[in-house]
Amino acid sequence: MGTALGRAWLAAGHPLTVWNRTPGRTAALTAEGAVAAGSAAEAVAANRLVVACLLDDASVGTALDGADLAGHDLVNLTTGTPAEARERGVWAEKRGARFLDGGIMAVPPMIGAPGAFVLYSGHQELFEEQRGALAVPAGTEYVGADPGLAALYDVALLSGMYGMLAGITHAFALLRGTEVAPGDFAALLVPWLNAMAGTAQETAGRLTSGDYTTGVVSNLAMQVAGSGTLLRTAAEQGVSAELLTPFLHLMRDRVAAGHAEEDTTGLVDVLRTR
Ligand SMILES: NC(=O)c1ccc[n+]([C@@H]2O[C@H](COP(=O)([O-])OP(=O)(O)OC[C@H]3O[C@@H](n4cnc5c(N)ncnc54)[C@H](OP(=O)(O)O)[C@@H]3O)[C@@H](O)[C@H]2O)c1
Repeated sequence: MGTALGRAWLAAGHPLTVWNRTPGRTAALTAEGAVAAGSAAEAVAANRLVVACLLDDASVGTALDGADLAGHDLVNLTTGTPAEARERGVWAEKRGARFLDGGIMAVPPMIGAPGAFVLYSGHQELFEEQRGALAVPAGTEYVGADPGLAALYDVALLSGMYGMLAGITHAFALLRGTEVAPGDFAALLVPWLNAMAGTAQETAGRLTSGDYTTGVVSNLAMQVAGSGTLLRTAAEQGVSAELLTPFLHLMRDRVAAGHAEEDTTGLVDVLRTR
């Protein structure tokens, strides 16, 4: 990811100093005009704006331990939890730096292309002042002054993605070994998932209003009754239902608690009380 980010800045004509723990991995960027620093501390000293994109929060602490951050703007694009981002913010401020946390919503080939965006939270003036440079590799979305917010949004978006990936995995497992060509099925699955994605807007509306029943077209009673078909089909096809059952059990329990007329919105509350 660091290489993809660096490439975008170099292509836009930004001067760039790079550091990586394993030195050889900066070769692609130095070949395109970046200056390789001999240490993280040397890289930090080269510019006011310092962007960290390492494996995890602990590696950021390790890498920047000996660097003088005073007077610098530290933008941390390393994926972490909200609490880690807040603690890293305090850590950076104690060392005299302004701090912004970021969550990259893209894979490396998307960097520099339309569609990629980065969620930012933390020091707002830093964000405004450095926005020109930050907007080069990807779109920018500032979500608030609490440094933990970008990570919270990031992980919530990734969690939505993993739910979708679980469904895709189960669907292909049902068809594996049959005469259905995976590509033919994908041509139907993608528009179906796109059509169903609008459920997120409905859920948002119901969470805001607190009304989980008015206008529900697919209530939990119907969905739980139908879930037996999903489980029997999985058994017929010799496929484990382990990706499906947690969600089906949540729906079943919500019905048992007297909420058969709701849609799935109430499951949000169930998850917060178990
Ligand atoms: N790749 C993606 O699709 C993607 C998408 C969104 C967000 N991200 C986030 O971007 C960050 C980087 O991901 P990546 O794909 O670039 O991962 P990566 O290819 O595995 O690179 C990890 C980097 O962290 C460095 N590192 C690991 N431990 C370190 C330590 N203790 N001290 C100093 N440096 C250390 C590695 O250095 P060495 O070269 O020396 O090992 C390497 O430069 C992660 O937080 C990831 O979650 C990635």
